[in-house]
Amino acid sequence: MACHDKQPDDLIFFVNGKKVIERQADPEELLLYYLRKELRLSGTKYGCGVGGCGACTVMLSTYDPVAKKIRHHPANSCLLPICSLHGAAVTTVEGVGSIKKRINPIQERLAKCHGSQCGFCTPGMVMSIYALVRNHVKPSMEQIISALDGNLCRCTGYRPIIDSYASFAKEQTCCQLRGTGQCCLDQEELGCSSSAGVRIRSGLCNPAEFLPVDPTQEFIFPPELMRMAQEQQKKTLTFCSKRTTWISPSSLKELLELKAKYPKAPLVVGNTSLGLNKNDHDAYHPIILHPLRIPEMQVVSITDDGIVIGAACCLAQLRDILMETIPKLPNEKTKIYQALLQQLRTLAGEQIRSMASLGGHIVSRGSAWDLNPILSAGKSVLSLASNGGKRQIFLNDQFLAGHKHADIEPKEVIVSVLIPYSTKDEFISAFRQADRQKNAFSVVNAGLRVLFSPGTDTIVDLSILYGGIGSTTLSARKSCEKLIGRQWDDQMLSEACKLVLEEISLPPSASGGKVEYRRTLLVSFLFRFYLEVLHGLHQMYPFRYAELSQDKMSALGMLQSGVPQGVQVYQDVDRGQSPQDPVGRPIMHQSGIKHTTGEAVYIDDIRPVDGELSLAVVTSIKAHAKIKSIDISEALQVPGVINVVTAKDVPGKNGNDEEEAFAKDKVICVGQIICAVVAETLTQAKCGAKKVKIVYEDLQPVLAIKDAIKHNSYITEERKLEKGDIEKGFKSADKIIEGELHMGGQEHFYLETNSVVVIPRMEDKEMDVYVSTQHATEVQKLVASALNLQSNKVMCHTKRVGGAFGGKITKPSFFAVIAAVAANKTGRPVRFALERDMDMLITGGRHPFFGKYKVGFMKNGRIMAADFQCYINGGCTKDESELVIEYIVLKVDNAYNIPNLRVRGHACKTNLPSNTAFRGFGFPQAGLFVETCIVAVATKTGLPHEKVREINMYKGVNRTAFEEEFDAENLWKCWKECLVKSDYHSRNAKVEEFNKKNYWKKKGIAIIPMKFSVGFNATYFHQAGALVHIYLDGSVLVTHGGIELGQGIHTKMLQIASHELKIPLSYIHFCETSSTTVPNGKYTAGSVGTEINARAVQDACQILWKRLDPIRRKNPKGKWEDWISEAHKKSISLSATGYFKGYETNMNWETKKGHAFPYFLYGAACSEVEIDCLTGAHKNIRTDIVMDASFSINPAIDIGQIEGAFIQGVGLYTLEEIYFSPEGEQLTLSPDTYKIPAVCDIPEQFHVYLLPNSCNSIAIYSSKGVGEAGFFLGSSVFFAIRDAVAAVRKERGLPLDFTLNSPLTVERIRMACDDIFTKMIPKDKPGTYKPWAIDIS
Ligand SMILES: Cc1cc2nc3c(=O)[nH]c(=O)nc-3n(C[C@H](O)[C@H](O)[C@H](O)COP(=O)(O)OP(=O)(O)OC[C@H]3O[C@@H](n4cnc5c(N)ncnc54)[C@H](O)[C@@H]3O)c2cc1C
Ligand code: FES
Ligand code: FES
Repeated sequence: MACHDKQPDDLIFFVNGKKVIERQADPEELLLYYLRKELRLSGTKYGCGVGGCGACTVMLSTYDPVAKKIRHHPANSCLLPICSLHGAAVTTVEGVGSIKKRINPIQERLAKCHGSQCGFCTPGMVMSIYALVRNHVKPSMEQIISALDGNLCRCTGYRPIIDSYASFAKEQTCCQLRGTGQCCLDQEELGCSSSAGVRIRSGLCNPAEFLPVDPTQEFIFPPELMRMAQEQQKKTLTFCSKRTTWISPSSLKELLELKAKYPKAPLVVGNTSLGLNKNDHDAYHPIILHPLRIPEMQVVSITDDGIVIGAACCLAQLRDILMETIPKLPNEKTKIYQALLQQLRTLAGEQIRSMASLGGHIVSRGSAWDLNPILSAGKSVLSLASNGGKRQIFLNDQFLAGHKHADIEPKEVIVSVLIPYSTKDEFISAFRQADRQKNAFSVVNAGLRVLFSPGTDTIVDLSILYGGIGSTTLSARKSCEKLIGRQWDDQMLSEACKLVLEEISLPPSASGGKVEYRRTLLVSFLFRFYLEVLHGLHQMYPFRYAELSQDKMSALGMLQSGVPQGVQVYQDVDRGQSPQDPVGRPIMHQSGIKHTTGEAVYIDDIRPVDGELSLAVVTSIKAHAKIKSIDISEALQVPGVINVVTAKDVPGKNGNDEEEAFAKDKVICVGQIICAVVAETLTQAKCGAKKVKIVYEDLQPVLAIKDAIKHNSYITEERKLEKGDIEKGFKSADKIIEGELHMGGQEHFYLETNSVVVIPRMEDKEMDVYVSTQHATEVQKLVASALNLQSNKVMCHTKRVGGAFGGKITKPSFFAVIAAVAANKTGRPVRFALERDMDMLITGGRHPFFGKYKVGFMKNGRIMAADFQCYINGGCTKDESELVIEYIVLKVDNAYNIPNLRVRGHACKTNLPSNTAFRGFGFPQAGLFVETCIVAVATKTGLPHEKVREINMYKGVNRTAFEEEFDAENLWKCWKECLVKSDYHSRNAKVEEFNKKNYWKKKGIAIIPMKFSVGFNATYFHQAGALVHIYLDGSVLVTHGGIELGQGIHTKMLQIASHELKIPLSYIHFCETSSTTVPNGKYTAGSVGTEINARAVQDACQILWKRLDPIRRKNPKGKWEDWISEAHKKSISLSATGYFKGYETNMNWETKKGHAFPYFLYGAACSEVEIDCLTGAHKNIRTDIVMDASFSINPAIDIGQIEGAFIQGVGLYTLEEIYFSPEGEQLTLSPDTYKIPAVCDIPEQFHVYLLPNSCNSIAIYSSKGVGEAGFFLGSSVFFAIRDAVAAVRKERGLPLDFTLNSPLTVERIRMACDDIFTKMIPKDKPGTYKPWAIDIS
């Protein structure tokens, strides 16, 4: 092998202006891990490892010695081999700016615009925009949005991120609507007075305070690298490890010789296809060729036949070339280029587009790759070369199918691709539909081309190719042949559809599921192409070919979102409030700047401690089975493996009463942890884990709710509430309807995966546990009990958590136990940071829901009686399922006063990973269920939905079904304000107008009210503690039991301490949440984490303030520092604990009565959408939210929570779908397959208004906890889509009492819009085949 003959080269590249020389560069090492582990640059984050989340984004700069140009581009470091970096300059977030040196305006603006919450995605966001701004000093808004395509954020809802970057844009955007009628760009204080005399404000930051952009701050491209690029043009580079050799030849001749010598060696360019197999330890390549320096493969030339693009050019370059060339050419020559450009705009994110090469795309021939169908339909030609010579082949269907005679030989490479011009009589179109509009693989894509005999519509040539159906792009070649000679008319279309459906068959068990939807898309695309061509013919020959009817015109064009714009309106502080007092003001997140500079430390950023081991777990591959044996012998042989830890190694209790930490005799779900392998490195631990052999004896699993009902498999007793007389209610009703709703679950998809570092101390068996959790006390308790220790020996520390949303309440304790047992057994520190797929596999999420309803109502829409049966799929252990079903039963009424109500709730026990707490805690399911009933009543009565809502909404002072009293005044205020702010009635009329004119596109609008109960139904859940120290220099350290999850808890605590102690924020610091400072903290959840801890902090501060009283009175004009110094001299303690006992709540399930929740929070949201009936795509046009947040302690944080929760809700109700195999294995384990909302999913107009003049005597400073409430309002998008679908069905004479289950994905929307195409496709009888995935709700 190459390295045996010669010394490997030094790998030389720069990172943040510093030279890195790697003498033993490992070709398998990826940049992300190298940065984090070798260079200790932990600002670049791991979020998924597969290029899907953007958390690992860096900027690469390279110098082209021929063109003498420097190219900057963003890249996903998780896919980037370090060997590809020779001669490149890497910029990470640390290089962009830091608190230590100087922060960059990109970082500063993002922080000041409140664009970070948990901060885990933030360095990636910074890097994507940094790379853009390095290339375009004043980018367009479109460029900014597209630069963020590949970056996911689970917290913010993206609006503040876009806002902050809008300040760099060349065009100034204006929302036209500012609540006060003013422009959002007017940054003057919008101090307008409401009728009640309060001042209303809008905008959450002040751009006048932004640092100016200073290009001199940026690193210059290292001159040394320029020299290197010039000098080393002709030098072959070789890097070797024990397993792999990386060769970067400098000429085509040399590459071809190498390819002849090593025909199996891959050519790695972007590594975005090959790199995805990196987890497959055995899928390695002894030789890797890197052809990036071959000039012929970088060529771009415009020839007489078309554009020639070098195979090593990346997709972003291709896009830029097309954008530049298209306007310069006659339109008829550019049809294929336009089609390619359309695909390139939505393909992946900017990072992948900047890395992935055209050659790699063509050769890897992925099923859903978007360019291949169109390149093939457009008759592109591949220039191949081998050391035997050169030849050209067509990139046609046979090449794509891998037919030997049409394929590239192992010794050949693609040098370049000729993409020909189109001709006058030719039409070419590209289509794609994905689960999410951007950064998502196509479900189905297509490339279609027709050539007519000149001046006619007689088909001379036809190509139809589809992706997403088979293992590669498929061609309907035979169908096309049969259609040659035909006219382009309706008969041809129906025959084409018939032929295509016969030729392109998709088996019912096809991997990926969505079988009927995919079949429908085949013909829907064909139809759209048919119409596009007719439209084109008319434009060319207006007198020969008729114009399309308006109906048909509406089928053309895809839904495209514009640049999102937002408005945030809130009540200003009183005029008299001291300017120093931060309470009520939009103060920036305490860690905001650190998030943006990458200096905020998360668990896996903690530097390795001496002797630290890595841990990988072995999980069950069976949903239900006995463990017959565990053989660890082979694992122990793996070099670097230190030990294997099983249930036998737990000295104390293996988990808690409900759940085992290590499965012992039996497994009860796929993904259950059986044992753990600890090794010197993570790679070795993972390798060891693969070698553990487990023998199972299968037992029958229960997976779906319906199976659990059949087997009477429940986690808890039935929970039941009754109000009024249900039988009487039904008797008095004019009509009774019955129905069902199924709702899927939801992954938390916190950007920081579960992580824990356990460090055994040398003395007294003490252990430090650094853990990403919402519930440090539970971690401490479980670790102590597993190790047979007292809790006082286990010290838990949590500085911040990179997103949690309820998912880090119960689960982290088990991960901590696993790591602690391993640390105990080996006596060494252990790090256990889960990879994304493992985190998704092991942990459950939101409970899937099934509800049955019977509702009796009057002709005027008034509901008289309702009988609800609610089921959740709890998974294999109890976890939080009992509480979740209780909350569903308690909250199912939402905003509606149903006089006679019976609700029964059941938590089903199944063999799925145990589901757990998730933002909203059952209410998102319960709320959707009751709103579905409202819609069903409105449909039956024919009344407007908002009227049925109004007639049933609580009015005045009321009692819930469990007899808790509340006043619905603010519910109505929010509702009415939302009707006005959203201009609901006139927009509703406009929606109807639009729908009359557009057959294939429809709009929908919905307004939803909300009564959200905050907190927990037991007092002790609300208790909280704090510890405040004042040091002799006057600085203050605040500690409390709450955990920073991104919700800004510490920021608010500092605001409160500042207010109570009357000192500036700069005097106060928060360090970490720790069991050593504030013990026995309850979990930070239920929207009350902040306010209860705030009470404790307030208590401690007030104690201290009181102690200082005599000193202050003696020296009233003195400074804070003087008082503190004097107090110390007087032996006054400057440290105090604070405590909050908790809100008085209780719920008695015996009497079915109680004061279950401390208080209620009200809101309303109105959303408008547009759907594409042919594909099921939808676009969120506008959302207006009015929320009764009472007096907001920090409007920036509260509005951020509302927006973020809303977008997460949009995810649950319209996008996020978890699939399980019939064997109970989760199939959606990465961002590739599980889609959370991205930048493209937020409403184009997003307006949030906090209700003024509201007070809440229960919570601190009359505030309310808004952490969860916004989530349910995401259902307004669900019901707006339903409204649009109803308009489709009404027009087509289809039944209107249809059920739409959640999530309303592209598939469900399309299939609900029944038409000739859905009727045309073959249907498979359930039970006659094994489906790829099953429904577990
Ligand atoms: C997160 C993510 C999202 C994506 N989203 C999309 C999407 O929405 N739509 C879409 O179409 N695609 C998408 N892709 C796929 C992407 O288009 C391909 O992975 C990419 O084009 C492959 O190019 P590469 O340079 O990275 O190939 P590599 O991984 O470097 O190589 C792939 C294969 O091509 C061979 N090869 C490369 N160049 C040549 C050559 N010149 N001659 C001969 N053989 C060669 C190599 O030997 C190797 O076997 C996505 C990928 C990722 C990771
Ligand atoms: S970690 Fe690289 S894209 Fe997610
Ligand atoms: S702030 Fe974006 S993921 Fe938390």
